[in-house]
Amino acid sequence: MILVTGGAGFIGANFVLDWLGAMQEPVVNLDLLTYAGNLHNLDALRADARHVFVRGDICDRALVQTLLSTHRPRAIVHFAAESHVDRSIHGPDAFIQTNVVGTFSLLEEARAYWTALSGSEQQQFRFLHVSTDEVYGSLEAHDPAFSEATPYAPNSPYSASKAGADHLVRAYHHTYGLPTLTTNCSNNYGPFQFPEKLVPLMIHHALSGQSLPIYGDGKNVRDWLYVGDHCAALRVVLDKGRVGETYNIGGQSEKTNLEVVHTLCELLEQMQPHTTRRYIDLITYVKDRAGHDRRYAINAEKISHELGWQPSETFASGFARTVRWYLENQAWVSNVTSGAYRSWLDKNYHAEAVR
Ligand code: NAD
Ligand code: TYD
Repeated sequence: MILVTGGAGFIGANFVLDWLGAMQEPVVNLDLLTYAGNLHNLDALRADARHVFVRGDICDRALVQTLLSTHRPRAIVHFAAESHVDRSIHGPDAFIQTNVVGTFSLLEEARAYWTALSGSEQQQFRFLHVSTDEVYGSLEAHDPAFSEATPYAPNSPYSASKAGADHLVRAYHHTYGLPTLTTNCSNNYGPFQFPEKLVPLMIHHALSGQSLPIYGDGKNVRDWLYVGDHCAALRVVLDKGRVGETYNIGGQSEKTNLEVVHTLCELLEQMQPHTTRRYIDLITYVKDRAGHDRRYAINAEKISHELGWQPSETFASGFARTVRWYLENQAWVSNVTSGAYRSWLDKNYHAEAVR
């Protein structure tokens, strides 16, 4: 079995669903259920005995130790993090705590567990750390895309905290021989993304007639990857990645924020036109994000050549699929935007909580 951290968040939940759809191997899912964690993302697994959910903090070393010794996973896939750049600007503390201290705690417990494993179990164990392309900083328009050799230059408290975690993972491999793998992925989009991030926020605002806030001039570029393709890449890295290596993962879909929002508006016009207004007219330019990175772009040749991974969705197919998902899952969106998912947790979760 594998231990997943942060498996009630956006990418973690997609990963757990994808994993259990593709293979029989059980998952222990450790998630604190912060504002970003939502057990409804895992509703499809309610009756699935292969999924064991544990509410808890990756910083809680006693809990992590117990989970490792009880379930004896062959791998840890580490997603748990504070993940939103804007929140990191307004309140960096939680980012340092979870992303740096939490990763450190997990590494320490993983090291103790792995050291005590014997023979083939020890050889086969993997610690897969899921990170971001934002650790490389910001590119100018004509700079080459980020490769695994690009020096780190994080610009936000979020990316700095992820960079710190990446360095710890690297050091645990170099110093102790812990069999680590690190992935640095570009911007994901798809089902179950919390509507504070660009894509779900714009879809939600458009459908509810609110303005579509574009930071600055809207020409910042991100490389967009469908979340299912990210999950597939992680499975390949876990299976075939070389220990101690890092792999960049990207969608070959560099777009400005304005292109993204125009695409979303066009898709909504096709799938759910409004009777009296056009979605695009809701676009509003607002004050830029502090320290806003201009461009991210991924060179994914290493994972492609070494491990044979390629994204299966194009920007057009992935965005169409995503808009359709949000239209078909408006109950999920309103549950999140109303905050009902939190009160559901408060009311129903105590009995199941581990701590
Ligand atoms: P998310 O914010 O949607 O989910 C994070 C999850 O971690 C939540 O379920 C939350 O409850 C949980 N969590 C937070 N603090 C915790 C703690 N102390 N202990 C246990 N669980 C905790 O994030 P996401 O977008 O799914 O990102 C997952 C990972 O992928 C992160 O490490 C992020 O840095 C990385 N990443 C994200 C993107 C992206 O575009 N979203 C791109 C590249 C890499
Ligand atoms: P975001 O989804 O927060 O991801 P990240 O900052 O990690 O790349 O933002 C993606 C881009 O969209 C980023 O350049 C900021 C911009 N943005 C807006 O213009 N308006 C918004 O309301 C949000 C949330 C983001």
